[in-house]
This record gives sequence, C-alpha cells and structure tokens, in this order.
Amino acid sequence: MEATNSLLDTAAVGDLVLLDPLTEESLLRTLQERFQRSDIYTYIGNVVISVNPYRSLPIYTPETVQEYHNCNFFAVKPHIYAIADDAYRSLRDRDRDQCILITGESGAGKTEASKLVMSYVAAVSSKGEEVDKVKEQLLQSNPVLEAFGNAKTIRNDNSSRFGKYMDVEFDFKGEPLGGVISNYLLEKSRIVRHVKGERNFHIFYQLLAGGSAQLLQQLKLRQDCRHYGYLNRERSNLPGVDDAANFRAMQDAMRVIGFSPEEVTALLEVTAVVLKLGNVELSSGYQASGMEACSIAESQELREICELIGLDTSTLEQALCSRTVKARDEMVLTTLTVPQGYYGRDALAKNIYSRLFDWLVNRINTSIQVKPGKQRKVMGVLDIYGFEIFQDNGFEQFIINYCNEKLQQIFILMTLKEEQEEYIREGIRWTPVEFFDNSIICNLIENSKGGILAMLDEECLRPGVVNEDTFLTKLNQLFATHKHYESRETQNARHVMDASLPPQCFRIHHYAGKVTYNVTGFIEKNNDLLFRDLSQAMWAARHTLLRSLFPEGDPQKVSLKLPPTAGFQFKSSVATLMKNLYSKNPNYIRCIKPNETKTAMLFTPELVLAQIRYLGLLENVRVRRAGYAFRQLYGPFLERYKMLGTRTWPRWAGGNRDGVEVLLEELAIPAEELAFGHTKIFIRSPCTLFDLEKRRQERVVQLATLIQKMFRGWRCWTQYQLMRKSQIVISAWFRGHAQKNRYKQMKRSALIIQAYARGWKVRRAYRRFFRSGASARLANFIYRRLVQRFLVGLERNLPPLSVMDQTWPPAPYKFLDDANQELRSIFCRWKCKKYREQLTPQRRALLQAKLCASELFKDKKALYPKSLAQPFCGEYLGLAQNPKYQKLHAVAKDNLVMADAVRKVNKASGKTVPRLLLLTTERLVLAEPRAAQPKATLSLGDIHGASVTRFSDGLLALHLRESTTGGAKGDLLLVSDHLIELVTRLHQALLGATARGLALHITDRFSTRGPKGDVDVTVVESERAGSEGPVCKKRGNRRMEVLVH
Ligand SMILES: Nc1ncnc2c1ncn2[C@@H]1O[C@H](COP(=O)(O)OP(=O)(O)OP(=O)(O)O)[C@@H](O)[C@H]1O
Ligand SMILES: [Mg+2]
Repeated sequence: MEATNSLLDTAAVGDLVLLDPLTEESLLRTLQERFQRSDIYTYIGNVVISVNPYRSLPIYTPETVQEYHNCNFFAVKPHIYAIADDAYRSLRDRDRDQCILITGESGAGKTEASKLVMSYVAAVSSKGEEVDKVKEQLLQSNPVLEAFGNAKTIRNDNSSRFGKYMDVEFDFKGEPLGGVISNYLLEKSRIVRHVKGERNFHIFYQLLAGGSAQLLQQLKLRQDCRHYGYLNRERSNLPGVDDAANFRAMQDAMRVIGFSPEEVTALLEVTAVVLKLGNVELSSGYQASGMEACSIAESQELREICELIGLDTSTLEQALCSRTVKARDEMVLTTLTVPQGYYGRDALAKNIYSRLFDWLVNRINTSIQVKPGKQRKVMGVLDIYGFEIFQDNGFEQFIINYCNEKLQQIFILMTLKEEQEEYIREGIRWTPVEFFDNSIICNLIENSKGGILAMLDEECLRPGVVNEDTFLTKLNQLFATHKHYESRETQNARHVMDASLPPQCFRIHHYAGKVTYNVTGFIEKNNDLLFRDLSQAMWAARHTLLRSLFPEGDPQKVSLKLPPTAGFQFKSSVATLMKNLYSKNPNYIRCIKPNETKTAMLFTPELVLAQIRYLGLLENVRVRRAGYAFRQLYGPFLERYKMLGTRTWPRWAGGNRDGVEVLLEELAIPAEELAFGHTKIFIRSPCTLFDLEKRRQERVVQLATLIQKMFRGWRCWTQYQLMRKSQIVISAWFRGHAQKNRYKQMKRSALIIQAYARGWKVRRAYRRFFRSGASARLANFIYRRLVQRFLVGLERNLPPLSVMDQTWPPAPYKFLDDANQELRSIFCRWKCKKYREQLTPQRRALLQAKLCASELFKDKKALYPKSLAQPFCGEYLGLAQNPKYQKLHAVAKDNLVMADAVRKVNKASGKTVPRLLLLTTERLVLAEPRAAQPKATLSLGDIHGASVTRFSDGLLALHLRESTTGGAKGDLLLVSDHLIELVTRLHQALLGATARGLALHITDRFSTRGPKGDVDVTVVESERAGSEGPVCKKRGNRRMEVLVH
C-alpha cells in the first residue's frame, strides 16, 4: 500500500496523471519535490521520467530487484525496474516484442538507465550455466563499447559518442539467448580534435594509464598523455575516474565476451597506430618544379607505426605526402601541401578508428549472436547520444540532434497523435489535446527531395568547386520562410538583427531548443573521403586486422563509384531503426538533466522546465488523463481473459465483442472504467487492468493445476498401457525365446545323438576299413592266437587221464588263469566222468560203498584209513563154494550183501563168541559157525542205530528197537575185522530197505540195551587190548569197559 500511497501522495504524486491542478508549475514542483526526496523516478502512466541524481542511490540493490520482480507496475514505487519488469513480462507472457526507448539530453542518464534495464532483466531471467554466460557477455559488452565509443564532453564525463541499439533475444521461456548490437555514426572527428575541457575517446587514456610497461613497449607507446597530439597534449585525469582500473575491466570484459588474446593485441595495436598517427609531423618544402610539397618532419613515429602494422615506411610516407590523380587516363602522382597532408593524415586516423569501432561491434555480435533457427522474442534497448547544444555545433551535432528529433517523433506519434487518432478511429468520445508535432522539423532535415541532408548530398556530388557557402546559400533559398529554419540571411530578409547568429551558420528550431550549426566541415564530413593512396597503403600492411578494415584498398577492387555519404547512411540507418521500433511495443524512459554542472542533487528549475516543455510531458499527461490506460483488440482480449467468465470459458460461441461485454459484465467492472470501441476494448485505469491480470493469474494457477492433474492422470494411464503392452510383448518374446532355446537344445541333443548313433553305425560298418580298429583287431587276433596256442598246447600235453592225478599245467599267461582253472576243473570232472563210465556195476557198487564209508568215517574213526586199502569183498565166507554154508546161502539167496565172520560180545560176561554174519538187502542174520544155521535174524527195520569207537578197533553196537522180536534180547555187540565195510553196507542196505540211513554214533561211551537192563560201554585206549581185537571187560552189571588200541 505504501507504493500506492506514494502514487497518490498529493504533495508529490508518483504518477503525474494524478496531478491536480495540472499546470507546468505544479508538474515542475512535483518533480522537484520528489527529486529532493531522492525519488528520481516518476510516472506518466507507463512512461518513466528519470531525473539524474548525479550521485549513487541505494535503490539498485538485489533486494530492490526482488521487490520489483513480478510486481505490478502501479502497485510499487515508481522505479526504472518497474518498467523493465513490465516490458520483460509482457515479452515473456504475452509474446510481444518490446523496445525500451531512452531519450534525453546528453548527460541526462540514458546510458545508465539502459544498463539498469539490462542488469534487471539479467537478474530476473532464469539462471543456468549457459544462460549466465550469455547474460555476462551481453552485460560485458558495455565496458568495451564505452571504452571505445564514449568520451568526456563538457556535458557529460561519460558521454556516448555513438548511437547504440541492442536487441536482446530471448527464448520462449524468457531466457536470454544472445543479442545483436547496432551502432550509429561514431563521432569520429573527436579522434583528431576536441574542444578544451573535453577528452578524446576513453580508450586512449585507459591504454596509457592501465597498459603494463611491457604492453606499452610492445605498442611503442609512451605512458604520458601529453606526448600525443590527438590527446591535445594536456593532462587529462578525470576526477572520480580511474582509467587504469577501467582498462583492466575492459580487458576482463573482452575475455568474457570471447576475444582471443591475439585479437585484443591486434585491437590495441590499431588503437596505438591511431594515436601515433597524430604525432606524425609534416614539414613543408618545395619540389624541383617549384611546387609546394610536404614531407615527414621526423620519421621516428612513422617508422614505429610501420613496424606495428608491418608496412614499408616509404609506402606510408608516400601515401601521406602525395596523391595519385587520374589525368586523361593517366595516373599522375602529385605532391600534397602541408595542410592537405595533415588533412589526409587526420582522415586516415578517423577512418581507421571508426572502422575499428565497427569491427569491434561486429566482433561482439559474433560472440553474442543467437544461432539461427531458434524462435525468439526481442527486447530492444535504445541508448542513443542525447540532444546536444554546444557553443559551436557542427555536422555531428546536426546528425545527433536529427536522430533525437526522430525519437521524439516516435514518442509523439505513439503516445500523443496515434493515441488520439485511435480514439477517434474507434468511435470513443474524445476532446482533442493540443500538442506540438515535430514532423515538420524531421521533414526539414530528412525530406529526400528538399531536406537539408538531401541538399548536402547534392552539394557533395556536384561537380566543380564545392564549398559550404554554396550549400548555405541553397538552404537559405529553400527555407527562407520555414518556421524552424533561420540564418543570418533569412533574418536579414525579415529585417531581424540577431547577433547570436554568425554568418557561416544556420539555426534550426528543434523540439528541444534552437541550435545554431556552423556549416564549416559539413561537406567534408558528409563526404567522408579518404585518399585512395591511404586506403591502398593500409591494405598493403601485413597487420591482418588493419588490412581487413580497408577492403577497398585492394587494387583489384578499385571502384570509381563514390561511397554513400555519411548523412545518407545515417538517414537510412535511422529509418531502419524507426521501422524496427515501430514494430515493437514501446516503453519510454525520459531522462531529465537537473543541472548543467553535474552537481549531485542540484535541481535547476529553469533547466528542467525547458526539458518538460520540449519533451511534451504536460501534453503527455493530458492525453493520458483523458484517455484510457489500456486497449486491446476484442479477439486477443477475450482470448486472454475468457477464463474469468463462466459463460466465456472454455469457449465462447458468439462474436468477440459480445464475448468481451458478457465477460466484463460478469466481472462487474464499473461502466465508467470501460469504453467499447469499434474493434478494441478500452480500459481507463491501470488498477482495473491490474485487477483483471491478478484474477487471471489466480485462475491460470487453478487451470494449470487442472491441466497438470489431467495430464498426470493421462500420462500415468498411457504409461501403464505402455508398460502393459511392453510386458506382454516382453513375455511373448521371452516365452518364444525360451521355447526356441529349448527346441534348439533338443535339436542339438537329437543331432548329437543321431551323429553318435550314425557314427557308431558307420564306424561299426567301416571299422575294418579303418586303421583305428586295427589295434583291437590285432589284440583280438593275438588274444585268439594265444588262447589257441594255449588250448592246442593243453591238448598236446594233457596230463595223465588217471583220476588220481592232480597235475595240471599252469596257465602260460595271467589272463588265462581263470580259464585254466575252469579247464582244469572241467578236465577233472571229465576224467572222473570217463572213469565212472568205464566202471562195472560191481566196481561201481564197491566204489559207492567206499564213498559211503568215507562219508561215514573219514576223519572220525582211526580205523578208516586202514580200511582204504582193503577191497570191500562183501563175501568173505564163500557161501556159494562152501557146501557147508548151503543153508545160509539159501537164506541169503540173491539178496546177499555181505557175508563175514564176526565175533559177538556177550553183554553179560564181556566174552566174545564167533559168529557168521549175513547181511541181505532185507535182514541181518547171525549164525553159528559150526552149525552154519541162522541163530538170529533181524529185519533191517529193527535196527535204529549203531555205535562205534573212535579208535581202530572193530567194535560195533547195533541198537535195536525194543518192540521187535529180534531186539528182545537187547542190542548186539559185535566185533568185526571188516567193521568199516560192514557198517557201510549196513547203512546202504538200510537206505535201500527203509530209505533212511543208519544213525551212526562214533563215540567213546554209549549204552547198550541188554536183557537185564542197559549196559554202559566205555571205550578205553589201552596197550592191553589184544591184537586180535578189542577186549571187553565187564565191570559190574551195568558197565563194560572195552580196551582198544
Ligand atoms: N540513476 C543514476 N544514479 C546515479 N548517477 C547517475 C544516474 N544516471 C546517470 N547518472 C550520472 O550521470 C552521468 C551521465 O549519465 P549518462 O552517461 O547515462 O548520460 P547519457 O544520457 O547517456 O549522456 P550522453 O547522451 O552524453 O551519452 C553518469 O556518468 C552518472 O554519473
Ligand atoms: Mg550515453
């Protein structure tokens, strides 16, 4: 609210539109009041008036930048930052190219204002490495251009001596991309001449003060300014200005912009050459022909110049002292007089410097230019030399003031005339405001048919003697009655005596005051000619930069066409500039100079009043007051604000005007604030627009959130769909891939198996054809041969076929061991089989008996080995031969198994009695030898067991079953000489008869059953046993001892 209060402050309103009463005095008073309060900025609507404080104020801090960043123009204290912010936002948000027109007298603060605007835009635009670099380059172009293009004048210690228009280019986000600088007519006459109290261009002083000893030596310069003719040989320190520090800052700036060290050196070399040219002294002499001629008075300086630029001294000397003239198709070298020589020298110096300055601007442009193809928005900042009125005003002042006149015209056109015309065009009720239109002055100067510049050109091109007198006469004739033109002649004609108007002058009533111009030098400066010999000499130099500045010096490209005049060039470049400015949205900063003495905070009312008048500020306020702050075509207006109305958002079906009416009605904006033109809507106060803009911003935030929401939703949805699709594709591919791999694996395996099987089959089929099978075959063959030899050898050396023979040849090789053993056993079994096959039945029976005996007795009874040698005869009695045994023979019949003589032991006494024993297949018969009659007959089934001793005796106890008749008398105790045979045969007979063998006990103790009970028989080995057989001794009733060997 403080700012708004400040705008409404009745004593010193911030916006002069609110001034009441509105008079010149009140306006001046207000400005003064504000100035005294250090409020140097004041508005007229959106035009900023800036009064130079000539002291630094604490109102350009980063905090102030923040305060004005995105502020509303009318909501904060008037400030240059506010207009910069307004322009920048309009460029960024509304896509409108901007231009900032800074006007005012020399020293009013234009250059400072342009720098403040640039630094503000740089501070608020976005940051980033690339953007910062661009910003730095743009900002650093100022110190460089100021060093070469600014100078101290009477009016301003840092006066711009060239016009500068800088287009800063931005991308769609409002980030600076780069820029283009255009320069307008450098005041180059300053190089060779300047009035006392002024200085040449800063760079010379900076170079001499700040250049290191080494650099100065390299450039062949002396540190003392007084040494140089062009510097007026006077001390030139400026109070409060440190030339040396500025030189360093300038060098740093060049580095930042991107100048290479070589480029900087070349630039300084050319600068040094300009300075040194001023010291080239000429002296007069006479040629042999008697013609006056000039020559170099002292060649030191010339030699140094030539060393610096790589040129032959004589070439430059000749170019400076003579001139080639074309006379009847012949080139003739004519000598120059001393003044002509100096003229040529100075022209060269001016040309070198002004071309160097153009080169400098182009070089900076190369660094800051934006790459083609990018879409850009442009903010142009115009800082041109201010309106100047000197004691002696020449061609330069005429040009400078013409330019200012044009700028004033733009201002008038756009803010006063255009605005009023627009109200009428749009059918808005309007009371016209009177104002001064300076078109008439512009026309006086620039009219292509009869303007001053056209006349000057005509005079320059006219053949014959040309001088300023004829030019002035022409002007006097042409503009004899012109309201804004006067000269001594026109005054005389009007019978007015004006001592302030000297003869060689004309006066123009500019919008900003009357300026008297001295025509001396107009033609020369307008022609801006340089002797061709000089440009050719420069082109001949080896110094690349210098050479490049004089392309016309190339003898190949000699052109007889005169170059366009300086006035013509300037006029056309100003026309281009105007066109450019008209295409952009203008923002005005009108600088006012408060005093002539550059004194801090001194306000000279008369001086300011004059500026208020010529700047047309009062008219400006009037038009502004009566008019509307804002206007826009219905279409764009509706497009911009339609989101504020429920009926107009999102689409309005009707006409644009209707839409705007509906919208503003809905927004309840007071009717007096609005005017509906034919094509545009007009809004009276900025506050209403501010309110609209605020509401729009709030609404935009809401809509942006909505769009973000929808967009995020949509993005997630599409992302999800994409992921889903991708997932399906991936899994399909993956499955396919896995299956393919599996299939490949299977195929590979199948192929391997196939290959092996086929290989195996083929190898098998072709094995014999291959060497690889040879070893196996050989081994097999050898093996077979060995086996064959072994077998054949065996056959030949078969061991005896006797079954008893156990001999068998050992295997000749270890691998045949198993087979040999097997053969041995087969052979053995075969021998036995053969043996068995040739046996007779008797012999077989005998052997079976022997076998049976061995099973029964082997290793069990000592008698057995002795029996081995005995043949089992069976029939020891000779029953068949001996008739005595006829009866017994009859008993035995054909079933006889054995017939032998045994002894029977009496169990009661232990004595033995002989008996005959017959064993048939069915029974056992005992008979008395003498009677040869069966005494006892036992069925074989009655015998249930037998007992024998371990020893080699013939004792046998036959255990009989009690139940049987034969067994009634108890067991039989027999002694036989053929015990082994007897028991064996008995066993066999029992097997045959009862299918069960004899239960044989081989024991030392057994009991026998007797008629009077059992008798325990104990076998005792004793020496006392008789050689005939065992001796049985009865020991009591129940015991019997049998002594055996
Ligand atoms: N805003 C300001 N604050 C402090 N001093 C200022 C301000 N504006 C200008 N000055 C002072 O005024 C001097 C002249 O200003 P500046 O060079 O901008 O004038 P100009 O209008 O560009 O003049 P010319 O037309 O001669 O180039 C500056 O050197 C500076 O000392
Ligand atoms: Mg300036």
